[in-house]
Amino acid sequence: MDLSQKVIYQIYPRSFQDSNGDGIGDLRGIIQRLDYLQKLGIDMIWLSPFYPSPQNDNGYDVSNYTAIDPQFGTMSDFEELVIQAKKHEIEIMLDMVFNHTSTEHEWFQKALAGDKEYQDFYYIRPLKEDGSLPTNWQSKFGGPAWEKFGETDLYYLHLYDKTQADLNWHNPKVRKSLQEVVKFWMNKGVKGFRFDVLNVIGKAPILVDSQQVDINQEKALYTDTPIVGQWIEELNQTTFGQDASFVTVGEMSSTTIDAGISYTNPTENKLSMIFSFHHLKVDYEKGEKWSNSAFDFIQFKKIIDDWQVGMFQGHGWNALFLNNHDQPRANSRFGDTDNYPFETATMLAQMIHFLRGTPYIYQGEEIGMTNPNFSNIEQYQDVETKNYYRILKDKGLGEEEIMSIIQAKSRDNSRTPMQWSDQIGAGFTKGEPWLAIANNFQNINAKKELNQEGIFHYYQQLIRLRKENPIIQKGSYRGLYLDDPHFMVYVRKLESENQPNQELLVICHFGEQERLFTMPKAYQNRKAKSLLGNGPLHKRYNGTTSLEFGPYETVAYLFKE
Ligand code: NOJ
Repeated sequence: MDLSQKVIYQIYPRSFQDSNGDGIGDLRGIIQRLDYLQKLGIDMIWLSPFYPSPQNDNGYDVSNYTAIDPQFGTMSDFEELVIQAKKHEIEIMLDMVFNHTSTEHEWFQKALAGDKEYQDFYYIRPLKEDGSLPTNWQSKFGGPAWEKFGETDLYYLHLYDKTQADLNWHNPKVRKSLQEVVKFWMNKGVKGFRFDVLNVIGKAPILVDSQQVDINQEKALYTDTPIVGQWIEELNQTTFGQDASFVTVGEMSSTTIDAGISYTNPTENKLSMIFSFHHLKVDYEKGEKWSNSAFDFIQFKKIIDDWQVGMFQGHGWNALFLNNHDQPRANSRFGDTDNYPFETATMLAQMIHFLRGTPYIYQGEEIGMTNPNFSNIEQYQDVETKNYYRILKDKGLGEEEIMSIIQAKSRDNSRTPMQWSDQIGAGFTKGEPWLAIANNFQNINAKKELNQEGIFHYYQQLIRLRKENPIIQKGSYRGLYLDDPHFMVYVRKLESENQPNQELLVICHFGEQERLFTMPKAYQNRKAKSLLGNGPLHKRYNGTTSLEFGPYETVAYLFKE
């Protein structure tokens, strides 16, 4: 199956399904839910890390790349998962966290014990002559990016948590070792990889201070440097690049469209697609995530438009998404889950699924799960959230303001356990869940969704329509009404011999009031087929100049001529 037909489903194993009552999701739990995933219609599951790890960053701090953390199961459970998934026509994508290892990884431990060979696996540097840290860089989780290297006078670099030490990719032994990891999992039948923060691997051998103009200037010192592309190509050519059906996605922090094109244009032999995040930073105040700010709809549309147009022109390929394990739930963020839960979830889904690229669904999105709105910091587990709680306190913010920021921005918003049923433990666990279950599970759960024509059913249709309609897979993209404050509108167009001039007009209403929409001139008073919609317009359209949209209503009309 061509990449453009596939839909990928992300599982955060810790929160998906617990099979042994310890409150933590596991691999056998995933096997139990394959029927559900097949019913949804997805083609591939991306599994967030389940490797041995001290779990300071929930597994993104890997201490052994080629084993399974006992809390998630065993290698034979994983092998069984691959076999059973295949029977359900589902392939497996694994998460490769190659920018850094846990400080408990054997390589770092050997380095600490004084082994020079392994010290060259990391960025270990002396203090500057004036006694200050090797550079003035900040960790993305708050605080300086340097930590003392054992009992020595040296420091090691960590762009993330202090237990996540950055790997020195300049060392060919590091690159070779990582290639071996990829081959190990390919031999287990894995058909895809998601590479964690891959575009920050290219730090210069000599690290220099940022001028502290702003954080972007600092990021430029280690983001998308030319050598990154070279190393990705090498990884491709030595491993997965030999298999044309392989699916890869690079998580690209603060990247650009030009870089996105060069990472994904098929002639470059690098990756199938990338995740970029600019469209999800539209509720940051002056670029600061840990702030409370309404989301800027025009900017949101503009960023998506720029990426759609740019990547199309450069023959690049986007991963399409609004949710993942690092993001608050999109329906809580961009819609109204109290009054219009169905309309919000399905409108956002349609907006994403009909764009050009490969859609990702994050567990629970397909049943309309929301942010949990925990009121006490003790209910949060995430390392970034806990760090920022302290940082915001030090800045002098009051408890109430801090908690309202955390309720909106914490990564735990999407990490609460999957809501399978209205039973105690939400069908996720028979024990004490590692993170509290959102208290709306009796109302929002998969069992209920499967028994009604709701959000899950709508996702099934979105997935099916992608497979049936080449225009969704391959059509060009054009954004309309970019300055309109209420509607997001775009056209996909496919010109092929048997279907000349097919156009798909997708209209998404971001708003709670009923609102009149004027059809773009070119589509006024023309016959069209409604492909999918979440309200009356789906059934009612029959050629007109204006349409009355309900709250969060969406519709997609197919014009043929
Ligand atoms: C991105 C991952 O998605 C996130 O969860 C993690 O904390 C960082 N990379 C560091 O690995």
